[in-house]
Amino acid sequence: MKELASEIKSNLLSEIESVSKLSELIDLKAKYIGKSGRVTELTKNMKDLSVDERKEVGMISNTLKNEVTEIIENKEKEINEAILNEKLNNEVIDISLPATKIPEGAPSILEKVIEEVEEVFMSMGYDVVDGPEVEEDRFNFELLNIPKGHAARDAQDTFYISGDEILLRSQTSPVQARTMLKGEGKVPIRMICPGKTYRRDDDDATHSHQFMQIEGLLVDKDISLCDLKGTFDEIAKKLFGPSCVTRFRPSYYQFTEPSVETDISCFACEGKGCSLCKNTGWITISGAGMVHPNVLRNCGYDPNVWNGFAFGFGAERCAMLKYGINDIRTFYNADLRELKNFDRKEGE
Ligand code: DAH
Repeated sequence: MKELASEIKSNLLSEIESVSKLSELIDLKAKYIGKSGRVTELTKNMKDLSVDERKEVGMISNTLKNEVTEIIENKEKEINEAILNEKLNNEVIDISLPATKIPEGAPSILEKVIEEVEEVFMSMGYDVVDGPEVEEDRFNFELLNIPKGHAARDAQDTFYISGDEILLRSQTSPVQARTMLKGEGKVPIRMICPGKTYRRDDDDATHSHQFMQIEGLLVDKDISLCDLKGTFDEIAKKLFGPSCVTRFRPSYYQFTEPSVETDISCFACEGKGCSLCKNTGWITISGAGMVHPNVLRNCGYDPNVWNGFAFGFGAERCAMLKYGINDIRTFYNADLRELKNFDRKEGE
């Protein structure tokens, strides 16, 4: 038996010498360890052997099978390496050829402005928070002191998802209510929330049924309009340049009292009057005011202890002013010819 095993092995070794292709190796593999390959010659007469003899033959045949497998595997490796080397030797890469140009992306100008605003507010200790775009009527209106049927709802007619309770938020102000409820009337709040809002609106150069707002809320003790003014002055200088100043005009919002409209001095003409500021020297940038006591109460903050200010501005408007864009649709119609205008690196 042992002689037969070593004969089979040496036959294989001499045959494998001349093999240089994988297909030949597959044939050789079948010839030796296939179903009726040469290794099975050893176990052909097993049934006529005694138990001890069977054991020995079994061992010899197993050892042979392992050896044959190893020899074939080594040859396979050898052939694959040879194929790879041949490929490497034949393939020539001409490094002097110009590379394929891969178009480079750039952050959307709107996202860039939002990030800039976030950074300024974060440097003043504000958190950046998020809220749902599909919102409940309660957060979007009721908790903000705008009960059902109130005329103030007309200006923010929006898209209802089901019945009159679930809607696409018409403003980011519901995040004020959500943040205060989370604070459970116990902790001071400083947050901004950038996000998409929706209104039934005709789309034109300055209106869109979907646009972005940046909401802000500060709740603490002994806060006054002076704090709001100081905050806005700081923001305006950081976003629009060190000579930018702000002014308040009286306004009306259901969720603030008093309410103001915030203007910044025109950064293009420094207040002298130009087409950007329609010759007034001022540009309206945001609605704001002191949080209405009803809103504080509705959201779990005792208005005898806490007060604060809130504001909301349009992100597109901010970006349009900063980058001289005159049509809000530029942000959404994904026209590369327009977007590429802003696709520049800092300092370019
Ligand atoms: N939510 C208002 C709007 O969409 C903007 C606004 C005004 C937000 C005054 C405020 C605020 O937080 O105090 O027109």
